[in-house]
Amino acid sequence: MSSPFGAYQSEIYLRGLAGQVPAFTTDTARLEDAARGRMEPGPFGYVAGGAGSGATVRANREAFDRWRLMPRMLTGATDRELGTTVLGTAMPAPVLLAPVGAQSILHPDGELATARAAAALGLTMVLSTAASNTIEDVAAAGADGSRWFQLYWPNDDDVTISLLQRAKSAGFTVLVVTLDTWTLAWRPADLDHSYLPFLRGIGTAIPFSDPAFLAGLEKTPEEDPQSAILRWVPMFTGTDKRWDRLPFLREHWSGPIVLKGIQHARDARRAVDSGVDGIIVSNHGGRQVDGAVGALDVLPEIAAAVGDRLTVLFDSGIRTGADVVKALSLGAKAVLVGRPYAYGLAMDGESGVRHALRSILADFDLTMGLSGHRTLADLSPDTLRRT
Ligand code: FNR
Repeated sequence: MSSPFGAYQSEIYLRGLAGQVPAFTTDTARLEDAARGRMEPGPFGYVAGGAGSGATVRANREAFDRWRLMPRMLTGATDRELGTTVLGTAMPAPVLLAPVGAQSILHPDGELATARAAAALGLTMVLSTAASNTIEDVAAAGADGSRWFQLYWPNDDDVTISLLQRAKSAGFTVLVVTLDTWTLAWRPADLDHSYLPFLRGIGTAIPFSDPAFLAGLEKTPEEDPQSAILRWVPMFTGTDKRWDRLPFLREHWSGPIVLKGIQHARDARRAVDSGVDGIIVSNHGGRQVDGAVGALDVLPEIAAAVGDRLTVLFDSGIRTGADVVKALSLGAKAVLVGRPYAYGLAMDGESGVRHALRSILADFDLTMGLSGHRTLADLSPDTLRRT
């Protein structure tokens, strides 16, 4: 089946004939500006903010700007085939929803709205451990949609095992282990508002509904929120792990395992040696290490270092269709999108997530065609020029 995504363009123009315009901009590189005036300062800062001076957030975008597409003509790119299969998951386009925690600060429906939007588009949602809804409720909202589970690795093996079992039973097929956020960075946007959702019991629904987590409490989190939060903090923050702990996850998770937050070719090789199935080249959207290299800048060397020995995915800074083309051309098998859909959720709930994602996908589809690429296999470093 050829790609349907570009059709969103005609849908928007046709609705215009009935006097309708999109609920917010189709310029997906400008969603932050659009959302700024429509969100409370705390939640806005939580989404937009980065580590320290924001240099890594900026570096992520600058890295994309250094690469330019080299369009080709007369290639018969009328009907595009953008579908792919990643780690056993079939996708209509190589785009996933990145794990974003505490989504109820953005919209009352939180992750449930996101799961419904992802399922409606056939896209894969990666559910965060720091969600504001339970694993089971998000799975039910996503119905037949494909889903992966992101683990913030607890400092308690019983809780870890329990979370993995719950995710497996609820139909999550791939485990994404986030390595770069074992403790929170210095984030001025949140510090200036003294705003951290988790300390308010937001983004804790998964552990707070977990039998192994609850076993360590005398009273339920509803009866005694303070004690539950005090158990949560040291379990999810403050302790870094080492490579030799990875076999523990393999022992308790039978599906593919992906390491999120790889930024160095040496770590990528180490990931190959450790036998995981994939990596996400990512710096957490610039939220963890200030002054770090732009994620796209390290993608080519990492892709070269691992070859086809594991699946390379990418996030951090994807805003437009051209960005997707660039990351795929430089070696990613698929990309994850974070902030754009989070702003969509904040501005218009489930339809906002759909609008933000459909805009990126339509732009991607049209950019593929107009630059002369019919399939994902047509993309290579030769598609681009570094400026
Ligand atoms: C994140 N990210 C994230 N990652 C993760 O593994 N677990 C999580 O709970 C969260 N939570 C989260 C909240 C918010 C508000 C943002 C913006 C990001 C990181 C996310 O998965 C992804 O790596 C980045 O968002 C990608 O960068 P862009 O697309 O936002 O530039």
